[in-house]
Amino acid sequence: MSRSDHEFRTGPRGRRTTVCAVVGLVAAGAVVGVRRRLTESLVDRAFRKPRGGFARRWYRRAEAHQAIFLEVLDAARFRPDDQVLEVGCGGGAFLRHALETVAGAAAIDHSPDMVVAAEKANQRAVEHGRCRIVRGSAESLPFGSAEFTAVVSMNMFFFVADPVAAFAEFHRVLQPSGRLVLHTVSADPPPSLVPAVLARRMHCYSDETIGAFAADAGFAEVAVEHPGSPHYQIVTATRRG
Ligand SMILES: C[S@@+](CC[C@H](N)C(=O)[O-])C[C@H]1O[C@@H](n2cnc3c(N)ncnc32)[C@H](O)[C@@H]1O
Repeated sequence: MSRSDHEFRTGPRGRRTTVCAVVGLVAAGAVVGVRRRLTESLVDRAFRKPRGGFARRWYRRAEAHQAIFLEVLDAARFRPDDQVLEVGCGGGAFLRHALETVAGAAAIDHSPDMVVAAEKANQRAVEHGRCRIVRGSAESLPFGSAEFTAVVSMNMFFFVADPVAAFAEFHRVLQPSGRLVLHTVSADPPPSLVPAVLARRMHCYSDETIGAFAADAGFAEVAVEHPGSPHYQIVTATRRG
């Protein structure tokens, strides 16, 4: 094929069109990537690792979570001699309820802002030595073995990357006969409950799978129920006595 034949087929204009199309596709890809990273960082900031003044204020009350708190309180049946650990405590709104009944409580959260907010929300109990709140991860709890009589967690487990490690830790820090109550979102939540941007960051499991995590960690009396709605799971289990 002669040079002029080639230019006739592709031509300088044709080459320019191809270059423009490639540049356009790369630019569109970059915009989609930036948008995705932006929404992911917003999800992190609001839910997965909340930070900032708005999050600190919102999670100290967590009005929208009160119904879930009541379901967990109901399942946990706290006793006056309980030593409770809450994992992923956010702004400490649930702790305030728990501390009305139990002897003492500890809580962890991996967000420094949430630790500050939870301490503020439970200031008197912290000052009186009935409550300690520390920064930490659900997969590696900063507590000794068998320190607690109950472990509770809500609206958090779906962000845990290693569920097997987390269940092993819940089991380790519980005393024999200690209770676990875990409130989370069931598999395949509808977009009306969990928008797609949030769902992409979440790990939700079937009843069988989440129940098996608990049983494999060594828990007995494992039950997975749906008290409020089929879209939420509440896992209860007991450390063997
Ligand atoms: C949606 S907020 C819920 C807060 C609180 N439990 C409530 O119901 O209001 C999730 C909380 O879990 C914490 N969290 C998420 N993943 C965690 C992890 N792997 N270890 C410790 N905390 C975690 C976040 O920082 C955040 O405070």
